[in-house]
Amino acid sequence: MMRTPLIAGNWKMHKTIADAVGFVNDLVPRVADIVHTDVLIAPTFVALRDVVRRAEGTRILVAAQDVAAERIEGAFTGEVSAEMIREAGATHVIIGHSERRQYYGETDESVHRKVNAALAAGLEPIVCVGELLDERDEGRAETVVQRQLERAFEGLTASDLSRTICAYEPVWAIGTGRSATPETAEEMHRFIRDNVARIAGTDVAETMRILYGGSAKPDNVLELLSRPDIDGALVGGASLQINLFHKLIEIQESLIKDTDKK
Ligand code: PGA
Repeated sequence: MMRTPLIAGNWKMHKTIADAVGFVNDLVPRVADIVHTDVLIAPTFVALRDVVRRAEGTRILVAAQDVAAERIEGAFTGEVSAEMIREAGATHVIIGHSERRQYYGETDESVHRKVNAALAAGLEPIVCVGELLDERDEGRAETVVQRQLERAFEGLTASDLSRTICAYEPVWAIGTGRSATPETAEEMHRFIRDNVARIAGTDVAETMRILYGGSAKPDNVLELLSRPDIDGALVGGASLQINLFHKLIEIQESLIKDTDKK
């Protein structure tokens, strides 16, 4: 089963609109010869529309970093609905990032509602799961990730899940410079895929892209991306610099070309 790999940049609260558009201007020619790898960036809400316009007609996909759990517009100060994100031209949305869970009270329940809201509006969710350091040290990493997955995906149909991307982001690896080892990451990716198979069948599980996130950078990503169940990366810090982000895309692309040759 061939899954198109995806290199996704999560810009978090970085880059003004001008900086964001400038970055895409620089990125467009650099991805002109990329054919095997999907490329995505997630700017802030305010930059979405301009980034979408600049990315139109290129390989670059655009995601929001969060979405309201409420499906219908209303009195929800500060929230942005899935419909609004769709109207701005984004096709994807990151949901349940650990920073949302840690700092903004995101729960398994709100993640579940947001995934449903995104799918209903025609957005493809990128659902983040991952354990804290304590949880890993106590041997509970798999239990935690399984709970996050089951709650996020509860009630979704196979067709919903076929439009869903998962990102495994061990919290202890995010922004710390300490990425998971390829073995640890692959083990969890396999575990996630097995769980998706249990929930929605092997066909869906085999087509779902599962990204690795957490201090992914050019000098550690090759080994990670070479693993059979790691279908790309969700990148924070290294996605802010055009040279590093471009390098990550090239590394992923070269891996696929090598497989083609075999
Ligand atoms: P990082 O962030 O690459 O800076 O560790 C990853 C993420 O939060 O998605």
